[in-house]
Amino acid sequence: MNQYDDCWLRYERVGSDKRLDSYQRRCRHAYVAEKSPECGAVRDELRRALSGLLGEDPHFWQHPPTTVDGFLAIGTPDDMAMIAESVPGDDIADLEDGGYLIRSVTWNDADCLVVTAPTDRGLVYGTFHLLRLLGTGEPIDDLDVREEPAYANRLLNQWDTPFHRSVERGYAGESIFDWERLPDLRSRYEDYARLLASVGINGIVLNNVNTTKPQRASANAAFDAFEGWQLLESRRLEDLTGLVSLFRRYGIRPYLSVNFAAPMLVGDLDTADPLDEDVREWWRKKADEIYDLVPDFGGFLVKADSEGQAGPYDYDRDHVDGANAIAQALEPHGGRVWWRAFVYGSHEDRAVQAYDTFEPLDGEFAENVTVQIKNGPIDFQPREPVSTLFGAMPETDLGLELQITQEYTGQGVHATYHLPMWKEIFEFDTHADGEGTPVRSLFRGDGEGVVGVGNVGEDYNWTGHYLAQANLYAFGRAAWDPDRSAEAITREWVRLTFGADEDVVDTVTEILRDSWAACIDYETGGLGLMHMMHNGEEYLENHYYPSPEEWPGYHGASEDGIGVDRTESGSGYVTQYRDPVAERYGSVETCPEELLLFFHHLPWDHELADGTTVVQRLYDNCFAGVEEVERLRNLWHSLEGRVDERRYRHVAERFDEQVAQAERWQDVLTSTVREYSGMPDERGRARDE
Ligand code: GCU
Repeated sequence: MNQYDDCWLRYERVGSDKRLDSYQRRCRHAYVAEKSPECGAVRDELRRALSGLLGEDPHFWQHPPTTVDGFLAIGTPDDMAMIAESVPGDDIADLEDGGYLIRSVTWNDADCLVVTAPTDRGLVYGTFHLLRLLGTGEPIDDLDVREEPAYANRLLNQWDTPFHRSVERGYAGESIFDWERLPDLRSRYEDYARLLASVGINGIVLNNVNTTKPQRASANAAFDAFEGWQLLESRRLEDLTGLVSLFRRYGIRPYLSVNFAAPMLVGDLDTADPLDEDVREWWRKKADEIYDLVPDFGGFLVKADSEGQAGPYDYDRDHVDGANAIAQALEPHGGRVWWRAFVYGSHEDRAVQAYDTFEPLDGEFAENVTVQIKNGPIDFQPREPVSTLFGAMPETDLGLELQITQEYTGQGVHATYHLPMWKEIFEFDTHADGEGTPVRSLFRGDGEGVVGVGNVGEDYNWTGHYLAQANLYAFGRAAWDPDRSAEAITREWVRLTFGADEDVVDTVTEILRDSWAACIDYETGGLGLMHMMHNGEEYLENHYYPSPEEWPGYHGASEDGIGVDRTESGSGYVTQYRDPVAERYGSVETCPEELLLFFHHLPWDHELADGTTVVQRLYDNCFAGVEEVERLRNLWHSLEGRVDERRYRHVAERFDEQVAQAERWQDVLTSTVREYSGMPDERGRARDE
């Protein structure tokens, strides 16, 4: 038996005879370029996949076969004359790195398929695309696919903490990386690389952004176990080389999170002042050492002056000084610093701080620095408005950071699918360049991209909850092509993961589609409140939650009303948006209901557009959220016998827990509302303490 699940790379036998015939004709014989590690990965994948899908091993040729009805050819036009003859060079010349073509062609009277690309990485992606078509039963006799990634960087941030193998905000067991045993490799590393490459992820930051215990008091008491700065020690770097070669086969570049004080922690300097020449020299030597070992090393991710991690402020320097000092060391090697904008603590309203800190620095960062910004101004809440920094730093490379792991959306217990949230973020019009500048149109430079905080661990199912595999899948697919519809991405995942039964596909797609909205309702009341999750549940332990005493700062509740005034007369956060966004959010009349209490403090009996009061809407949404989860659970129950027992039971059990916890969340939230407002639920459901 497998030691872990295959996720969406199941490669089960093709069901339809018609399809099987066509797949066999074009794919049973394969002629694949041989020159690079990526081509090796392509061949291995074909071997695994085709033996499953077609029921027989593919036959590999060293030259184009002339005695068969058809074959599959994979290579660059430079590798193979047959490909150069079949696909005009101009067709691929201008593809972005990673782009590829797949075509059905006739060659020498044989029915062939060609997967070609300007780079070997593109061949890996093209192969996975083709296998996805076979896995979802699509026709391949008339293919003409041209694909290229929307963003140059599609990175995964592991929040894995060496060396005790914990994963911060991880809900799927310990880290899959057995740090102490490196350089020994586990087959799971390769299977992880396959999963990532199959959805187009091209970079991985191997360790957590928190690389030491907080140096200063921090809101997050759970941080005591952090380490990871040691990865810059020479022996640790040497240990990583095998692991990174394995990722290289799949076109995935490695990165490390580093500590700003590394010159003191790893080196023996007595300062980490970014303007100190010895410090800069230390970073240069360290970078030279790394690139000697790993020539395609991607660079460093830095969390500085944030939640107790060291940073340039320790030396009265700013973020530009800090980021540029490290960047100058990586620059000769083509490496990049991803510098996080997640800073808060000095402003009464934390939403204001990132923009206040970073926007004035626009244009001052080195060319190889990317400022990595969380999607919203707070911290991966179930729903937040989009960060004001997007579109506000035109002279700086920016990255969008999303959270794949479900820190605030039910962790390993709740079925909460993040793609609808990410779609909302991508579609948000920043008006940065006038109307029609959605978030998805940003991050298009070579040093920009989309980053996801991973959700994988050692559990059999990788992600703690079988349905959470969909979040990893969707992240990669959306970062490759943010224009692809949520429905298409979701159905693709369900088909690959649960098979072709249309009822199963429809039902699981519906569950995923509606799960996020339900979570927002039972967790926040659906009007833009945040950081109000019920404390004390076991599964919420690995999670930052403000204690009830801190809640008022987040929900702004008092006897007279609820919400936080972030308009000009309040914290002023709204003024950081461009017009007309600032105007829309700034006015109670035009602010969308789902964010109303994020931007405004309103009387409890303020009437919403349909005449319902704020207090009543909070009650209604909280109860509706619970009812919705019950409906989703029933939908899952309708699949009994149609999904294998192991996965059926796992998800069914979690749904029971989710319903119970949603009820408790609803209960705590509605009784808090009841207590502050003194106004009962007019439908008599909310508990009166
Ligand atoms: C949140 C989260 C932390 C994490 C931090 C970050 O505060 O709870 O676990 O370290 O974000 O993004 O750095």
